[in-house]
Amino acid sequence: MKAITIIPGKPNSAALENVPEPDPSDGTILVRALELGICGTDFELISADYGWAPPGSDHLVLGHESLGRVEQAPQNSGFKPGDLVVGIVRRPDPVPCIACAVGEFDMCRNGQYTERGIKERNGFGSEHWRIEPEYAVRLDPSLRDVGVLMEPASVLAKAWIHISCIGERAEWKPNTVLITGAGPIGLLAALMGAQRGLEVHVLDRVTGGPKPQLVHDLGGTYHTGPVKDIGFAPDIVIECTGVASVIAETIDHLGNDGILCLAGVSSHNQQVDLDLGTINRSMVLENRAVFGSVNANRKHWEKAKEALMKADRQWLRRLISRKEPLDKWQEALKRRPDDIKVVIELDGQ
Ligand code: BGC
Repeated sequence: MKAITIIPGKPNSAALENVPEPDPSDGTILVRALELGICGTDFELISADYGWAPPGSDHLVLGHESLGRVEQAPQNSGFKPGDLVVGIVRRPDPVPCIACAVGEFDMCRNGQYTERGIKERNGFGSEHWRIEPEYAVRLDPSLRDVGVLMEPASVLAKAWIHISCIGERAEWKPNTVLITGAGPIGLLAALMGAQRGLEVHVLDRVTGGPKPQLVHDLGGTYHTGPVKDIGFAPDIVIECTGVASVIAETIDHLGNDGILCLAGVSSHNQQVDLDLGTINRSMVLENRAVFGSVNANRKHWEKAKEALMKADRQWLRRLISRKEPLDKWQEALKRRPDDIKVVIELDGQ
């Protein structure tokens, strides 16, 4: 079968290769791949800034944003041929740590977790893949054209649950959320903010293209320029750019008792001048909380499914700005100015 592979640690090694059919040790469910979403992590993997091959191999099958159709599944697995499925990305560490021991592998304590298409496990960027029933999530057939958004949505579903957990440390009635960065992660964060009845504000540097309208269509307000110009102090900020100067600004403009969730993975070596004394002073005197959030466990994937089911499908479809067939996979890896989510079609259509 064909698969998009990289050699972790070797820049620009991405290739479309013929590889053996997926190993039964990957799981008892055999899936025919339909689509693969591309995200910033894939670009980091391709440029060799991140990523690990499975033990004993120097190649890694790329891809962690999946969508596929079950071809074979054991009886009593809860799945049957024809089911639309996505694959959970992370697997618990073998120790396991206290978090992995209870299925909260997204909170792994010892870093020995593995991830499909990222860390020591082949991903979903191949014509077939296999998965264990407990790491497969069945989707309603109506999600066929947007189900590939499940992985990023799961990451945001987790972030929102953790924001609520922190908020509930005391009486809490948030009104406003600011999201920095209007990529797929930021726009899905905005969708979930709107679904929670919050006043949604999204800040990005682009003034044109589809992003402003997507935010307006959620009932939100689109901003460009510095965070200080938004004109209010948000109750919640979800930072999705990973850009150090934006992070610094959001810490500065968070409301009292406010919660800042850092959801963007930054590149290294971004130096900014910060007065940590003043930051600490206001964080303490105003009960502000800043926390990071990554990945998602099964519970969050189920919440992501609920969010996508409730969302306006037409709006979700507009997040997928391009779909490229497998033989044009390299086009999907070239960034274009109006791209939001780019998807590779793996089923040859
Ligand atoms: C993925 C997460 C993963 C993280 C770190 C992100 O792009 O969405 O599932 O945990 O990268 O590897």
